[in-house]
Amino acid sequence: MHKSSIIFECTSCGGQSPKWSGRCLLCGAWGTLEKTLEAAVAKKEREKNTPSAHALPFSHIGSQDFPSVQTGMTEVDQVLGGGIVPGSLLLIGGEPGIGKSTLLGQIALSITTYTKKNVLYCSGEESGHQVKRRLERLATAHSPIPDALLFASETDVDKICATIREKKPFLAIVDSIQTIHTSDVPSEAGAVAQVRACTVKLLETAKTTNTAIIIVGHVTKEGMVAGPKTLEHLVDTVLYLEGDQSQCYRLLKTVKNRFGSTNEIGVFEMTGMGLEEVSNPSAAFLSKESSRMPGTAATAVLEGSRAFLAEVQALTTKTYFGYPQRRTTGFDVNRLQLLIAVLTKRLGVNLGDQDIHLNIVGGFKISEPAIDLAVCASILSAYKNKSLESGTLFIGEVGLTGEIRPVAQIEKRLKEAEKLGFTSAYIPKTDKKIESKLKLYPLKHLQEMEI
Ligand code: TYD
Ligand code: MG
Repeated sequence: MHKSSIIFECTSCGGQSPKWSGRCLLCGAWGTLEKTLEAAVAKKEREKNTPSAHALPFSHIGSQDFPSVQTGMTEVDQVLGGGIVPGSLLLIGGEPGIGKSTLLGQIALSITTYTKKNVLYCSGEESGHQVKRRLERLATAHSPIPDALLFASETDVDKICATIREKKPFLAIVDSIQTIHTSDVPSEAGAVAQVRACTVKLLETAKTTNTAIIIVGHVTKEGMVAGPKTLEHLVDTVLYLEGDQSQCYRLLKTVKNRFGSTNEIGVFEMTGMGLEEVSNPSAAFLSKESSRMPGTAATAVLEGSRAFLAEVQALTTKTYFGYPQRRTTGFDVNRLQLLIAVLTKRLGVNLGDQDIHLNIVGGFKISEPAIDLAVCASILSAYKNKSLESGTLFIGEVGLTGEIRPVAQIEKRLKEAEKLGFTSAYIPKTDKKIESKLKLYPLKHLQEMEI
């Protein structure tokens, strides 16, 4: 046998290496490298005998629509771009305990109730009794739980696929990918090689049976250990459920969607009876009482194709000991440091001896630069202990020289503010004419903002 035809493969991460070592260089696991052989001769033979793929021009390929089935949950359908496409493979990721099983339970109940289609719920994490108790809590609107909703407590992916082939449900839910395994791969459940092998099997089953499959994947705080990131390229749609667990709002986002637009967002509130859809998120994320307090500023952010309003709160206090503190919730602390530096240098505000805390109301995480102006306004307002004009919005990216840069889709943001009764807005100055009923204050530089 030719020497170069011997390779060593890690049973944990699937990484390959030409040499054996005690530890996998890719994932760091010990004693996982195993010899796999591929004879050079056999490889050559295979190359000779493999027939070529059938290539043809697009004009010979017919057009096919992807008829999606609505789940009956408006926000979910919007995020999915219409509904669930038969035969597609979806992945829903999120931290443990964020509400993935709750959301999928609701989707299963909604589909079985409204479309009368069969749904199979496979759980490797919870027993039938546990899932039933949750479903009963969620099912008040649908009670009793429809018989079209089947449950299997199973961790063997081959058995799950066999059940799907036998029962032919419209939708199968696999909760979660980290708990199921296949005997084809020697590593334990949850290892990257297992997760990948199980997903490939589910993908094949989805395509051959035309059953849509939703896979649940836990994302750990430390990173993406054996997590959904390794699967994103295999599946058709990737959704993430996010939110602060101590807060009640949850955001469902699409990161990838082969059947619709990405970056769609759905907003839910976790209640005693599961996730409730929030149809007017802007109102939810603005705190009414504090709108005239010093240190609060409203802004409009864009998430996917949707604009909604958010509120920034800042608190500045004199530093009595050591370095001034800068703390944030829902905002990048490095960006805050940068904006403080701009305010200090360009406006001459002495923030060097001030502790600054910044909070985005509602447990929201915002990374869009359009919020910069609101952050600056809230800090100045807190520092001067002066309330901002009520009903005013602050939109704009702040550059290092203190210049205000334009942001995308300003009119959409202003329209959302209009709906909620805002009357004026500070916006970046551009040559473009902006249509809005709000009183606009176009700015070129931070210095022009009167606080
Ligand atoms: P769960 O869906 O089990 O999370 P995941 O599958 O993502 O790990 O939900 C976890 C939390 O949701 C749990 O702490 C309890 C809470 N919850 C409610 O507040 N209301 C409800 O109606 C349900 C079903 C759960
Ligand atoms: Mg769960």
